[in-house]
Amino acid sequence: MAMQKVTLIRGDGIGPEVVDAAIEVLDAAGAKIEWEEVLAGLAAHTLSGDPLPDEVLASIARNHTCLKGPVTTPIAGGFASINVALRKQFELYANLRPVRNMPCVASRFEGVDLVIIRENTEGLYSGLEHEVTPGVVESLKIATEKACTRIARFAFEYAAANQRKKITAIHKANIMKLTDGLFLRCAREVAREYGDLVYEEAIVDNASMQLVMNPARFDVLLLENLYGDILSDLCAGLVGGLGLVAGANLGLRDAIFEAVHGSAPDIAGQGVANPTAMLLACLMMLRYIGQEDVAARIQQALVKVYCEKRALTRDVGGASSTRQFAAAVIAALA
Ligand code: NAI
Repeated sequence: MAMQKVTLIRGDGIGPEVVDAAIEVLDAAGAKIEWEEVLAGLAAHTLSGDPLPDEVLASIARNHTCLKGPVTTPIAGGFASINVALRKQFELYANLRPVRNMPCVASRFEGVDLVIIRENTEGLYSGLEHEVTPGVVESLKIATEKACTRIARFAFEYAAANQRKKITAIHKANIMKLTDGLFLRCAREVAREYGDLVYEEAIVDNASMQLVMNPARFDVLLLENLYGDILSDLCAGLVGGLGLVAGANLGLRDAIFEAVHGSAPDIAGQGVANPTAMLLACLMMLRYIGQEDVAARIQQALVKVYCEKRALTRDVGGASSTRQFAAAVIAALA
């Protein structure tokens, strides 16, 4: 198999720790990847004053596939999120986040098997904020028929192709009648074309409660940007936390794979972060680039390590380091 060139952003905080651990596993499993590393986020900003240098964009445009560690975005000021910028720049309109129990990891629920499909390019993430007058600020929520229909179609296509049964569109259209109303109208329109799939709607606050009471009643969740962001972390909590959930940002030509979690400044530099989420992002990427056999081997090793409770990190009840966990996965490779 030919080597596949992939852009690599190691990220900030725990980013380099979990990315390096995941890459060690990929190398040991024989993934055919040639990494092209570029710097983005706080690390790039500190070095050059630019959190998203042109060479990052050029590299992704060239390679079409990127593995990205989490990056730090300053809170209430500072530079704008490079995650949002990358998703917009490459029209990565679909954020796909499967949420499943990891075998043998104790969590609040058994049998969770959800797929979050989040609109990734508009909503309140449009960055259209301004001060009207001192003490009064506005933030604009954007919804377009094009983007709402595109993400709804992605969700239904995904469900049909992956033997899923039900799609729940999550909204607040009782209050945001125009924006979330358009989101729902587009979803209903697309739903008509997929008669074999059950389509339902739930208001986001009710959906949040139901998710923490009985997640098994959900299957595929279709959400606009902000609700998708928030409920992704909530769903990660259902299966053992942010160390265990990954996602793909997908467009027509390009894809960026990453963990759902952020740069975790509270544990950065300690070598204790769980690299599983980043490894799961790698598995999604390996399948996307046609290296399914490598992904399957790593997946088996991962399950073995969890079920034999060999070298677990502390977020899932162990006492091992990021590197020790990666070494255990490598040792478990068949
Ligand atoms: P966070 O996801 O970084 O951390 C939340 C909590 O989960 C923390 O207690 C952290 O220690 C824990 N955690 C996260 N990943 C873990 C792992 N792999 N193993 C063990 N524990 C883990 O969220 P937070 O603290 O709200 O955000 C920190 C920074 O990350 C912010 O600058 C934020 O903007 C950025 N961020 C970046 C994302 C990305 O690049 N895709 C996504 C989310 C946040």
